[in-house]
Amino acid sequence: MSKIIMGIESSCDETGVGLVRLHDDGTVELLADEVASSVEEHARFGGVVPEVASRAHLAAMAPTARRAFATAGLELRDVDAIAVTAGPGLAGALLVGVAAAKAYAAALDVPLYGVNHLAGHVAVDTLEHGPLPEPCLALLVSGGHTQLLRVDTVASKITELGSTVDDAAGEAYDKVARVIGLPYPGGPPIDKAAQQGDPAAIAFPRGMTGPRDAKFDFSFSGLKTAVARWVEAAERRGDAVPVDDVCASFQESVADVLTAKAVAAATEFGLPAMVISGGVAANSRLSALAAERCAAAGIELRVPRPRLCTDNGAMIAALGAHVVAAGISPSRPDFSAVPGLPVSTVTV
Ligand code: KG4
Ligand code: ZN
Repeated sequence: MSKIIMGIESSCDETGVGLVRLHDDGTVELLADEVASSVEEHARFGGVVPEVASRAHLAAMAPTARRAFATAGLELRDVDAIAVTAGPGLAGALLVGVAAAKAYAAALDVPLYGVNHLAGHVAVDTLEHGPLPEPCLALLVSGGHTQLLRVDTVASKITELGSTVDDAAGEAYDKVARVIGLPYPGGPPIDKAAQQGDPAAIAFPRGMTGPRDAKFDFSFSGLKTAVARWVEAAERRGDAVPVDDVCASFQESVADVLTAKAVAAATEFGLPAMVISGGVAANSRLSALAAERCAAAGIELRVPRPRLCTDNGAMIAALGAHVVAAGISPSRPDFSAVPGLPVSTVTV
């Protein structure tokens, strides 16, 4: 008998409700993926405002769930289990999703699993490309996280190999966009401008690539500062800022460091496949360079479509399905949101 799993996501500025079907053979099928974003309410602040995000989740949760059930042609009573993001994320934002999930689970009398958002970013790939080749390497790149993970079993065994010591990759995009007068979130407009620019025009630094630096950690704040200084110097001289070249050169530095370290980690740990996920995985240069370098190193590359890479409820439903399939116990009824949940804790 197949099972219907509902996934609820509210860790940042996206209210997501996803529905998937877990088939008897362990494959997971996407049925609905509804997202309500409060990104426009944060745009004028240049970053997510936690209080605003929490209130937006509260307003959007029930309507988003209703849309998901309508899209899937299902009723609430068809749900067999619920998964919700327990962390990491913004405390108040997470609490809205956890409270909603507890209410649905109590009303439906179905098991509830508090799960890790980062593991969800990895699990989502199974909705597009089928079962994960485990073990594999995962590169998570979003506005909030930048991590290299060794994934032995997505439902229960994930190890962090490295992470950013300062800004996340997406955060660097957002901050650089602000410096050069492009809108928030900065990833899409920088990606677009970079298509017209020369990636070799300006030699921006490659963070944490020195011989004494931690091999699998990242740093983007020096790069962001270098871009800001370069732009300021041009403005001081009265030169027009070559926005396309700045974007292309900045983007080249980010894509170069991310893919070089990811391929090095996969090679060192003998991992034959790599999954790249998170909002920055939508970046055209990152995926092109990753494809090139993975092919050269004999690594299978999997990048879910952009819609699945950004925060959504389907990724939490997908992870929930793998957790249910693995026979893991549901969370205790009194579990809470854990803003700093480590990636090694897949279920709370
Ligand atoms: O995964 P996501 O939707 O939310 C978080 O969990 O943070 O990622 C959002 C981030 C933003 O920083 C945005 O600027 C970045 O992903 N982003 C991109 C692109 N599209 C979105 N960065 C680079 N290139 C893109 N095409
Ligand atoms: Zn995320």
